[in-house]
Amino acid sequence: MIDYNGKVVLVSGGARGFGAEFARAFAAHGAAVVIGDVNNELGEKTAADIAASGASCHYVPLDVRSDSDWANITEFSSSECGGLDVVINNAGIEVSQRFVDVTVEASRNLFDINLLGVMLGIKHAFLAMSPGGSSGRGGAILNLASVAGVTSTPALAAYSASKAGVISLTKLAATEAGALDYGVRANCLCPSLFKTDMGNQLLDEFVDLGFGESVDNVQEDLIARIPIGRFGDLSDVVNAALYLCSDAASFINGASFPVDGGMSATGG
Ligand SMILES: NC(=O)c1ccc[n+]([C@@H]2O[C@H](COP(=O)([O-])OP(=O)(O)OC[C@H]3O[C@@H](n4cnc5c(N)ncnc54)[C@H](O)[C@@H]3O)[C@@H](O)[C@H]2O)c1
Repeated sequence: MIDYNGKVVLVSGGARGFGAEFARAFAAHGAAVVIGDVNNELGEKTAADIAASGASCHYVPLDVRSDSDWANITEFSSSECGGLDVVINNAGIEVSQRFVDVTVEASRNLFDINLLGVMLGIKHAFLAMSPGGSSGRGGAILNLASVAGVTSTPALAAYSASKAGVISLTKLAATEAGALDYGVRANCLCPSLFKTDMGNQLLDEFVDLGFGESVDNVQEDLIARIPIGRFGDLSDVVNAALYLCSDAASFINGASFPVDGGMSATGG
């Protein structure tokens, strides 16, 4: 039932990390994929690599904070790829600061990307997918929240608050889409730490902040909070995304889906 032939999938922050893996996997399952990112060089390269495998994959510059960039990329998807069926609001950044060290600039920038960016992604997904929109055949939205949105880890105030906000935006999107008959589902993923560039950055920052003597110590502490006793593989996140955006999940809506080896089940 996981078949994306004839579907068009847009991935924000698709140049690297989770986003690039989503792009690769949806393309491998038959979708035409549009990657948007602020890292134009890497985004172009990721899209070219995927297209080299014979899939349809395009890169379009996208700063998720920009309303006009979102209008442009969703219009590109509809006009050049034949529609828009899935939007993955994946772009995000991480900032580790103790409350006493919080800086306005870093926090505002994080909220702009992690919260406003997701709101605008939902806005333009609805505009394109809802009846009368440039695609107009409904679809699915998947937002990247985090286990940090439901658990507490020191020095992650802005990040955790933004991800709790993404969980809320997901419920609101599902509710509003239903009330207005858009034919769009919205869900979010809550992954634990995965060793992407962002995940590795967080491990380094936790050492700098004194939460462990080395990256190995910090990893051990984090793994001790995960009942399965290991970090996840990127394929764990990708498989959840492939399922949630597919027709196999047609009755799953407004959900926050943990991909955390049971971390949130323990209270984190
Ligand atoms: N890696 C983890 O451990 C983890 C865990 C839980 C949730 N997440 C979430 O998953 C998502 C992806 O994380 P990742 O680990 O792949 O991160 P990453 O840093 O490896 O990749 C993020 C991508 O987003 C892009 N990006 C940043 N700002 C942008 C903007 N303003 N507009 C468009 N693109 C922008 C970056 O250029 C990059 O390509 C994020 O929302 C993150 O918060 C990650």
